[in-house]
Amino acid sequence: MKTVQMAMTLRVGEWIVLGGSVLIVAFSVVVGYIIYKKPPPVEYIYLASDETLAGERIYHQASCPSCHEVFGVGTSFGPALDGIGSRRTAGWLEAYLRAPRAGVSAKRYRLRMPPYEGTDTELNQLVKYLLALRKQGSTPAATAVLDEQLGE
Ligand code: HEC
Repeated sequence: MKTVQMAMTLRVGEWIVLGGSVLIVAFSVVVGYIIYKKPPPVEYIYLASDETLAGERIYHQASCPSCHEVFGVGTSFGPALDGIGSRRTAGWLEAYLRAPRAGVSAKRYRLRMPPYEGTDTELNQLVKYLLALRKQGSTPAATAVLDEQLGE
């Protein structure tokens, strides 16, 4: 009689554990499905075109990724350049690349940005590439407004 009772109690415990496990699995499946169906929004984009390809090549040849990151590629000795085309104008970038200065970003960096020493044509192509790195949904008009706010 005593053994039967013990077996019963054990079985109730097992049912609780089993029920709990089923709930956990069901919860994981539902959450997994939701994550699978709704990927995180793409925040930054690269509007690649024939015009930007030469600049993209220069960007790599000039070792910009040794200090900067774009789409997670590069290092963080300098600020990430994702979306830079939505924050700066062609004029600002051209002037900055020729005569970089510290303190344009919110963070402090230990390395100094070296001036770009390529030809004017190369500088122009490099800037075209940087301008194509944009924030999702931004337009050139929005960038102009942003520049006005920055007083640049
Ligand atoms: C030795 C490291 C180093 C290299 C190489 C370098 N940069 Fe920089 N860059 C920096 C740092 C550091 C800053 C941030 C300056 C600050 O705000 O204090 C910066 C800032 C910038 C900015 C301004 C970012 C902003 O938020 O407005 C741009 C654009 C830029 N770099 C582009 C380039 C390009 C293009 C190249 C390649 C030709 C390059 N950098 C090479 C270190 C570097």
